[in-house]
Amino acid sequence: MNRITTLIATAAAAIALTGSASGEIINLSTPGTSMVLDATEGQPLRILYYGDKLSAVDLENLEASPLAHHEAYPVYGIYPQGEAALSVTHADGNRTTQTEVTGVSTEEKDGATVTTIAMRDKAYPMELKVNYKVRPGYDVIETWVDITNNEKGAITLNRFMSGYLPIRYGDVWLSSLYGSWANECELTEEPLTHGVKMIKNKDGLRNSHTAHGEVMFSLDGKPQENNGRVIGAALCYPGNYKLMVDTDDSDTHHFFAGINEENSEYHLKKGETFTTPELALTYSNEGLSGASRNFHKWGRDTRLHAGNKERKILLNSWEGVYFDINEDVMAGMMEDIASMGGELFVMDDGWFGDKYPRNVDNSSLGDWVVDTRKLPHGINGLLETAKKNGIKFGIWIEPEMTNTTSELYEKHPEYTIKAPNRDVVKGRGGTQLVLDMANPKVQDLVFTIVDTLMTKYPEIDYIKWDANAPVMEHGSQYLTSDNQSHLYIDYHKGFVKTLDRIRAAHPDVTIQACASGGGRANWGVLPWFDEFWTSDNNDALQRVYMQWGTSYFFPAIAMASHISASPNHQTFRRIPTKFRADVAMSGRLGLEMQPKDMNDEDRAICAQAIEDYKKIRPIVQMGDLYRLQSPFDKKGAASLMYVTPEKDDAVFFWWKTETFMNQQLARVPMAGLDPDKTYMVTELNCIDNDPLPYEGKTYSGKFLMANGLEMPLTYKVDYHKNTDFASRVLRLTEVK
Ligand code: DGJ
Repeated sequence: MNRITTLIATAAAAIALTGSASGEIINLSTPGTSMVLDATEGQPLRILYYGDKLSAVDLENLEASPLAHHEAYPVYGIYPQGEAALSVTHADGNRTTQTEVTGVSTEEKDGATVTTIAMRDKAYPMELKVNYKVRPGYDVIETWVDITNNEKGAITLNRFMSGYLPIRYGDVWLSSLYGSWANECELTEEPLTHGVKMIKNKDGLRNSHTAHGEVMFSLDGKPQENNGRVIGAALCYPGNYKLMVDTDDSDTHHFFAGINEENSEYHLKKGETFTTPELALTYSNEGLSGASRNFHKWGRDTRLHAGNKERKILLNSWEGVYFDINEDVMAGMMEDIASMGGELFVMDDGWFGDKYPRNVDNSSLGDWVVDTRKLPHGINGLLETAKKNGIKFGIWIEPEMTNTTSELYEKHPEYTIKAPNRDVVKGRGGTQLVLDMANPKVQDLVFTIVDTLMTKYPEIDYIKWDANAPVMEHGSQYLTSDNQSHLYIDYHKGFVKTLDRIRAAHPDVTIQACASGGGRANWGVLPWFDEFWTSDNNDALQRVYMQWGTSYFFPAIAMASHISASPNHQTFRRIPTKFRADVAMSGRLGLEMQPKDMNDEDRAICAQAIEDYKKIRPIVQMGDLYRLQSPFDKKGAASLMYVTPEKDDAVFFWWKTETFMNQQLARVPMAGLDPDKTYMVTELNCIDNDPLPYEGKTYSGKFLMANGLEMPLTYKVDYHKNTDFASRVLRLTEVK
């Protein structure tokens, strides 16, 4: 009668605690969660439960009151009224699919346990493997599907989602991110009502400018940061995606996530397998912040490239000089960032091109040779200057692109994305084109761009990898006419294949995923990238909002956040340096300006911020995030904090988001501390004439989490230095 198999990921092996070899009821168990599946042979795979970890007694009796009783991977065809995760046209034209479980297996791989439920179509030799990966110590379950065609001829995949999750109907709220260029990661929170909510991307390349491929579901009504049950879902895919919640007349909100199948039907020849990207699921009973912490820990440890290596503090040249690059200016910027305590200088766009120099954005992409008119001593000269200043050097490239005005395009127009019989559609600068990463020759070219750079100049420490165009016309000059629908998917297969080669050859170089700002913030690219550029908008006030949204799914270590000039180059807002620094310090700190344009006072504030950031870097970059008060709630201030896993050190950030006379603001209770520990308060980045009243004082974690501390509404500075901004960064160190 006992047919329960509990699979707990251990470093060594999955433990079958009880149950039969056929594993009919499978309990995927993480430290705090359980996902229960019914994998009875001869039946479709069903999902019964996802939520808090189940006790033995609840598990035993779950079948009498499951949270769900749906197919775990619904397929299209029989009773075709509902949405499906998979839709196939079989070799003989039959559009129906009907699945049955044929077996369950587990495999230990790279310290994780992968449980695979093998299924097949009842009448056709098409195999499906639904996989669930659990890693010891992480409350995240990754799921994906392998579809293998053993039929006599080719089959067509019309829809091929990575996963499906039924969520019990109720007062369920969806949190998702929307935006646009320079306005990334705005937050929407809405109750799920009847009908379909769809979140999609069709850019072709950049997939996090507008909507995001990640969502959270708050199961207990309006989302709360530190209370309530939350399911988080992140599709790990760099290309077009579709997330969909169908709330129908049943007891369920049906959630689907996967590659966007629109104009992407995929043909599988006999013997071929299609593997979907992973969908990472998490569950927390500690609110949205709890789900974020689960994603952050899992992401840093298992997915983000070099996720546990502290990131350097850098100066990037873009907003400082734009295309006006030359040796003296670069040397000046290197001296300046070094003198302020920075550790890395990154030379942005404008350094390359021989026949066509890159002076504005309308030429030269693809011609990755140093423009010696601007840099007579080449990259080596710059590397030497960096060395002399005791800092590292990084460089900008945009390897997936070309311009019609370039030597590359003159030689290889066939490398670009282009539809037959149409005029080529051009992007940025009126000349930019996208190279066709589906083409193995282009994959080689892109690999060689990076490989040549790193082989010639092994001291390059950092690459900013940009991508400033979408797919602008549906046409691959490489794919055959009957496989043009593979373009969007094969582009990313080629992209990932190339990144694999690059990382195998150059594992240590730090690479930033930039795509017209925040267009590539997705767990599908981060295995090869160390961080992403959050936005081309560096306005500190707007960054409070954007970084808040970003932090739902991505850890601070990956979120590049720079102090830029005032007035800001995007919003033209004037924000004091102190506030700009306090915002940038809550992510991966950098600078994005010409330091020469700063006065001594602002320079000193930046130098102080860099010094202070070095002290809190491990807490911000590796700590646990507790979001406290959302800027989106419009309460006049926003606040969050990072706490070490040992809870012996923490950093509290507070930013005023609105200013009115005689404004009343609530005091923000802290979170994540140990109630029984005592913490000493030190203000960082302090510019006040007098210290805060609680400077150097100690408080219990219990007091701080119940009451917080009083934040003055202004900086306590000389009258003429007053501004309408205020912010505080407090360090809380355990006193033993
Ligand atoms: C877009 C990026 O987002 C910017 O930071 C900068 O690198 C420019 N491209 C350079 O062209």
